[in-house]
Amino acid sequence: MQTIRDLSQLRDAAAAARKAGRLALVPTMGALHDGHLALVREARRHADAVAVSIFVNPTQFGPNEDLDAYPRQEARDLELIEAAGAAIAWLPEVATMYPPGFATSVRVGGPSEGLCGGTRPGHFDGVATVVTKLFNQVLPDVALFGEKDYQQLAVIRRLVADLDLRVEIVGVPTVREDDGLARSSRNAYLSRDERAIAAALPRVLTQTAARIVAGDAVAAALAAGSAELVDAGFASVDYLELRDAETLAPLPDLVRPARLLVAARLGTTRLIDNIAVG
Ligand code: PAJ
Repeated sequence: MQTIRDLSQLRDAAAAARKAGRLALVPTMGALHDGHLALVREARRHADAVAVSIFVNPTQFGPNEDLDAYPRQEARDLELIEAAGAAIAWLPEVATMYPPGFATSVRVGGPSEGLCGGTRPGHFDGVATVVTKLFNQVLPDVALFGEKDYQQLAVIRRLVADLDLRVEIVGVPTVREDDGLARSSRNAYLSRDERAIAAALPRVLTQTAARIVAGDAVAAALAAGSAELVDAGFASVDYLELRDAETLAPLPDLVRPARLLVAARLGTTRLIDNIAVG
């Protein structure tokens, strides 16, 4: 595996990989776990060589979010992605991605609106901007993103379609712990007690989806689900919403394939999850 921090070296390595076959990109912010590694393994099925970027992107963090505290474990991450079969590790510095004078932002409307776009203003602008840059740097044939961040996946699909980017987007199902909790770098923030409570998130999501499929009124099912999360010990629920699975438009009734998405706070940690409905 080549570990690269310089943009011209990255362009050369990526060009060589594309000449030899198909090249995949898996963008990450590091602190890697089985969810990220599932993306790397899936990437090998779609391409001859896999590049993994590790970059904690400051522009997608809000002023009161965990940018400085975000877990960093570079040496371990490099071992993990090499073992999973990555050929290129792309580790740009902040100054490489955002040199002085940087003034461009990519804003995707539609699927960015509401949900995490409502509670984290500017977040998806930061994601869309950095992902556009990563695509232009690596020029991958295919890029993989987790369904864990379902709204992000929808935003990237919209971005690629709208800007005619020549990259195929592949979504990968969420990797979970034994009790159903979605693997996340932020799970490391949870105390023992909070970790036990966190299992209520996938459980309530599954129950709420089942009620909606069984014909319960959507608004009532969502209100009951939110109340159950608070009863289980969550401090608050940012949102629990039913959305169109493709466009992410709000869906008052289950009339087409839908996605149930949730964000809730446990102590100071914000957890998200989502599942298919119908
Ligand atoms: P990060 O949170 O590090 O996630 C990197 C990729 O791993 C994303 O596509 C995410 O959806 C996927 N992922 C995380 N947990 C997963 C799980 N339990 N199962 C399956 N996939 C999982 O998402 C980002 O970084 C950033 O926003 C990024 C796209 C890199 C742009 O900065």
